[in-house]
Amino acid sequence: MRKFWRKLLGYFLVGMGMVILLFSCQTRQVTQSQPTTTTPAATPKATPTTAQTPATFPPVASVNSEATLPAKLPPLPYGFGALEKAIDAQTMQLHHDRHHAAYVNNLNDAIKQYPNLQNRSVESLLRDLNSVPENIRNTVRNNGGGHLNHTIFWQIMSPNGGGQPTGAIAQEINQTFGSFDGFKKQFNSAGGNRFGSGWVWLVRNPAGQLQIVSTPNQDSPIMDGNYPIMGNDVWEHAYYLRYQNRRAEYLDNWWNVVNWAEVNRRAQASGQRS
Ligand SMILES: [Fe+2]
Repeated sequence: MRKFWRKLLGYFLVGMGMVILLFSCQTRQVTQSQPTTTTPAATPKATPTTAQTPATFPPVASVNSEATLPAKLPPLPYGFGALEKAIDAQTMQLHHDRHHAAYVNNLNDAIKQYPNLQNRSVESLLRDLNSVPENIRNTVRNNGGGHLNHTIFWQIMSPNGGGQPTGAIAQEINQTFGSFDGFKKQFNSAGGNRFGSGWVWLVRNPAGQLQIVSTPNQDSPIMDGNYPIMGNDVWEHAYYLRYQNRRAEYLDNWWNVVNWAEVNRRAQASGQRS
């Protein structure tokens, strides 16, 4: 009888031992599985990157805002005949209502099939043309550039413009080009030497210096990292009705309508790149 109780106790102890062993194994499995999902070691380490934070570029269409999409034809800030000191009313009307309007319409038609581009600005497309689908890249370059260039052009002219430059830009022009006359001469020369169609610009280059550049067709200075402070349109559509082939005379007269107040605002904005 005593043998029986001893055997029973043995079975009981062995059973208890197995239960404890099984329980301890399960506990270990649970505690081992947790770290793989929750501990910092399981979190992927941040990959070191050499990419730089993109530089910010001040708005170009105006000192307050970039040119949004879909593009809109901005109204002229004065009447068609207001710039007669340099440009006749009919040229202004055709230039704004037909030529600029066509750039706007062509740009919008091109991006219609790409809704993701419509969240971007005209400036951002022109700065990174490689990000624009190849089949519309040239259309965006020509018409986006045309829209942006003309948007600036209307603002930097005024019926009350002309005369000597004022404000900080006057001093910076003297420092960079020696004198206003020297600057005008270089600017007009660059505009006169542009073969075919294009623009002549005063830009702030990436080094922060004033520079005169000329761009072909409707290329924007921002495509080269330059901020356009002021520019003159030397396409024949800008002057031919009054001046015919006398581009030099148009370039000379154009100074009578330069809006120095706006040029100063743009020059100041151009220095805010970081
Ligand atoms: Fe034009």
